[in-house]
Amino acid sequence: MERKPLDAARLRRWCRDSRMWDSIEVLETVDSTNSLLAKRAAQGAHAGSVLVAEKQTAGRGRLSRSWESPPHAGLAVSMLLRPEVPTARWSWLPLLAGVATCQTIVDLCGVPAALKWPNDVLVGARLDKCSGILAEIAAGGVVLGIGLNVTLAREELPRADTTSLALAGAVETDRGTLLEGLLERIAAWYANWRATEGDPQASGLADAYTLRCHTLGLNVTVSLPDGAVITGVASAIDADGRLCVETEDGPVAVAAGDVYHVR
Ligand code: BTN
Repeated sequence: MERKPLDAARLRRWCRDSRMWDSIEVLETVDSTNSLLAKRAAQGAHAGSVLVAEKQTAGRGRLSRSWESPPHAGLAVSMLLRPEVPTARWSWLPLLAGVATCQTIVDLCGVPAALKWPNDVLVGARLDKCSGILAEIAAGGVVLGIGLNVTLAREELPRADTTSLALAGAVETDRGTLLEGLLERIAAWYANWRATEGDPQASGLADAYTLRCHTLGLNVTVSLPDGAVITGVASAIDADGRLCVETEDGPVAVAAGDVYHVR
């Protein structure tokens, strides 16, 4: 499958016409778009700044993992947000990005997509991961980073339980079109969420997330950051975006962790 570079001029034109995005810069190589944007945030970068890289040499994932993809085969994008809503509600931002990514895939690629809590995007018959999201606090704002496997072949995937849009049968694999679609959907959700001061119910975000969350109702094992492991049934998402798990010892609300769906 042909792998064209992103058309930076087209993206800049698109950005000028968008309401929310301040700038889009396409970098050939960078260690991590999240790390660079965090540095720029500290130097006063505007809210709505977007960085995209054709290649990351040290792409980072959640829970200190790495994120790897061959050049031109995926999207590695970070955006700087400075939400004017109570900080207690910022935990919904990565979930918002997950909803927008799912919608982009369903709307543009014509393949079903679902979320594994908190924001792994799963596609295809086996519901393998094709996208991950890393949100980090930076200089009083949030850097929201999204990695999306677009045309990776099976032998290029980092793990057996991952996939790409092309492998899942996507009808659209043009990365520029996917990036515009993704930024458009993030902007729409962000506008709703901000207009309701980050209220997950009033903005419709909680319902949109719950609708797409494959984790709910399943038996799960969750590895917590302190090394503890819990098992139980994933029953709900609470007002802070935490996963509620009904364990033998009672309910536990998980703010961060690695969830395994027991298939
Ligand atoms: C995960 O699934 O663990 C999250 C992966 C997030 C990867 C993206 S790629 C763009 C941005 N820059 C990074 O270094 N990480 C995020």
